[in-house]
Amino acid sequence: MEPKLMTSLSGEPITNTDLWEKFRREELLELLTHYAYGRCPDNIPVNLSFETVEEKEVGGTDYKRIAINCDGYVFPIRLFLPKTEEPAPCVLYFMHYLQESESDIDNEPNCLFIPIADLCAKGVAVAVLYYTDIYPDHRNLRTYDIGLFAHYGPTPDKRKPSDWAAVSAWAWAASRVADYLVTDPRIDANNLAVAGHSRGGKAALWAGANDTRFSLIISNSSGCMGAAMLRGKTGEHIDFISTHTDWLCQKQWTYADNEEMFPVDQHMLLALIAPRLLYVQSSALDDWADPASERRACVLASEAYELYGKKGVVLPEDVQPDTPYHEGCIGYHMSVGEHKIRACDWEMFLQFWKKHTEGNV
Ligand code: GCU
Repeated sequence: MEPKLMTSLSGEPITNTDLWEKFRREELLELLTHYAYGRCPDNIPVNLSFETVEEKEVGGTDYKRIAINCDGYVFPIRLFLPKTEEPAPCVLYFMHYLQESESDIDNEPNCLFIPIADLCAKGVAVAVLYYTDIYPDHRNLRTYDIGLFAHYGPTPDKRKPSDWAAVSAWAWAASRVADYLVTDPRIDANNLAVAGHSRGGKAALWAGANDTRFSLIISNSSGCMGAAMLRGKTGEHIDFISTHTDWLCQKQWTYADNEEMFPVDQHMLLALIAPRLLYVQSSALDDWADPASERRACVLASEAYELYGKKGVVLPEDVQPDTPYHEGCIGYHMSVGEHKIRACDWEMFLQFWKKHTEGNV
């Protein structure tokens, strides 16, 4: 049985938004930080500056490459702006390392996994963050001695079980991108979305849980430690993710053999986004991520939206593939086929965003 969303650790029922916002939300954020995603060092952020290092026109968009400098740790973002007069809503996308090698967005911004130029043509700006610029995880070192970890520490010998890991570093970087985006007059700071596929989806959810400037969070096939409940799930579990990746904090690794004792579950993560917009996409053949467990997390997280008098996810008994379920503040669809993000998924995300912002997007 999953831990209860609306009962505090001391057993108090959470019955209104005041208790939720002032107490339970903070408690959940702390639990997820401590047991799952890890804590960023307290010495950051300190000095932040931005420099536009390249500007050009590509694929009908205005392209800027911006260097984000965090105390001397510099990483780029690519920003694609629509040619509109009004400030544009903007989606920040975590580039997955497998997508890096199959794309050349600097020159061809429409790719199979994100139709950047088409989104811009519809009035949406796109910022792309290559998470490998923050921490390249595919060596699975778990020593955290490269990338942002080498810059801010702690050093591997001083690490504590709840210190930050890859997902929290990526999410932290997304917030630094948001720091830039809110300063750009061509961006509508009230309509910032953060999106990612698979491990990028896990990072998008954690970024959105922490940083309320993101008003829409899009998780595409994020699965284990993303949008899927651990309890009752098929496919990946803590035992795999904690031994094969360096994404979660060391505290989480200790639950590999006793997952049922893990003090949190993923409906808690999704609930931290309430009452903002959340979109969860699953892929029908993706048993590793487990669509049914993603839907269950959405249903359980809906309780947080209900406190605000809003609907969370609205799903029929029999969910059909490639069908949008956009009625509530948690949008959902299950794509036909395997673990992927495709141009048609973006059409659904955009439809949902427009519907719930009454024409502001
Ligand atoms: C692996 C991993 C998943 C992850 C995926 C990805 O399959 O087990 O948790 O979502 O990689 O990010 O590509």
